[in-house]
Amino acid sequence: MKIINGKAQRYVKFLVYGCQMNVADAERMAGQLADIGYERLADDAPMEDADLLIINTCAVRETAEDKVYGKIGEIKNIKRKNPQLIFGITGCMAQKESDKLIKRAPHIDFVLGTGKVHELNAVVQEIEREHGHVVNTELDAKTAPAIAEDHRVARDGKLSAWIPIMYGCNNFCTYCIVPYVRGRERSRRPEDVVKEVEQAVAQGYKEVTLLGQNVNSYGKDHKLATFAELLKMVDKVEGIKRVRFMTSHPKDLSDEVIEAIATGEHLCEHIHLPVQYGSNHLLKVMNRVYTVESYKELVRKIRARLPQASLTTDLIVGFPGETEDDFAQMLDFLKEIRYDSAYTFIYSKRSGTPAATMDNQVADDVKKERLNALMAVQNQISLEKNQALLDSVMEVMVEGPSKNDESVWTGHTRTNKIVLFNHQDEQPGDFVNVKITHPQTWVLKGIRV
Ligand code: SAH
Ligand code: SF4
Ligand code: F3S
Repeated sequence: MKIINGKAQRYVKFLVYGCQMNVADAERMAGQLADIGYERLADDAPMEDADLLIINTCAVRETAEDKVYGKIGEIKNIKRKNPQLIFGITGCMAQKESDKLIKRAPHIDFVLGTGKVHELNAVVQEIEREHGHVVNTELDAKTAPAIAEDHRVARDGKLSAWIPIMYGCNNFCTYCIVPYVRGRERSRRPEDVVKEVEQAVAQGYKEVTLLGQNVNSYGKDHKLATFAELLKMVDKVEGIKRVRFMTSHPKDLSDEVIEAIATGEHLCEHIHLPVQYGSNHLLKVMNRVYTVESYKELVRKIRARLPQASLTTDLIVGFPGETEDDFAQMLDFLKEIRYDSAYTFIYSKRSGTPAATMDNQVADDVKKERLNALMAVQNQISLEKNQALLDSVMEVMVEGPSKNDESVWTGHTRTNKIVLFNHQDEQPGDFVNVKITHPQTWVLKGIRV
């Protein structure tokens, strides 16, 4: 705490794990906390500088949870030196573990569930007054809790803004914890989304990413607009330069969405379309509800209408019952689809999900072997896809100097590829054309033209 102009200035530090939804939630929590006098510390500020420490957690894989338990342990010492520190756990693990977290680590002051983000200030103020423990993780899994729209948002980035358009998930893929910790799907009203985009543009943001676990089912609850309609509305916001979205579930990516991207001026040509697996046997037990054939047909449609679009995916190896034959089909599938890039995961057992109790679990060493084989195939494809861009000129939104070398600047293409280029006079937020001279697996290197 610092005294500024006779007033106490308190500081909050967030440690954020997991997906962009958690990044967006942290920005909303920081916005609210500003109302009761907490200023957000930079991500690289030491934890010791904080009066309020919040870990916004992820529960999607065991490794994500392990990292959080490690941090909780570390914070015990900080709390011992500074007993005034308020320490809270929010996010998906808070929802999943609830009061078990405080039983395991009593130096945690509060646990706030994913449906309770809007009650953060009340909880913090209660602890400021009474120094007790608070656990508030009620989440009615069956009904859709109302969305609090009165949040202020304290955004982290300067150019790119995360805009949640819906919360929760109804899909219950058999490996996944998300529907249990985020509740049922509920969509924000289109006018609220558009208003938030307008505000972001007014604050200088050039790019927005619309977020949801499955953005294609946006509006199926309130029926005020479909996702394609929402995309068109956001595309028209005065001053917006780029519009991105994720994640798309293949089961309901509509023709209208593809058409909207093809005709929209600012809708970026990148679709993250997680397939998870490349054999019908595993897609079925994963409850993904599409087949290899219907997915391929969807990709054919996307590529016919959007030949420049990049396509990325998520893949899981080691799901229960995965056979050598499944895995061979998966590699063939990758070679046929040729994604620009893929996030690859080893299946992680999540208690409470159907897959956790399936009896044909795959051995750890087999999972690791398959992951390596999968990555080798995909990396080669990613390299070849990027090599095909040699000598092409791509529009890059300038972000700033790269981490390693101040003279080399970085930015993204509309297709979401990272580009490194020689810095001239451009500033962050400018749009420049770069000719690709050295395509690599993860980045495109080039020169400004
Ligand atoms: N809603 C998004 C992604 C949610 S989680 C979608 O449906 O695509 C992000 C990714 O984590 C998933 O796409 C999946 O590949 C991976 N994932 C989810 N649960 C997992 C588990 N139990 N083990 C390993 N990977 C998992
Ligand atoms: Fe999880 Fe499937 Fe929902 Fe994605 S669609 S969040 S993988 S249950
Ligand atoms: Fe993790 Fe929750 Fe996102 S489990 S991936 S932070 S929705």
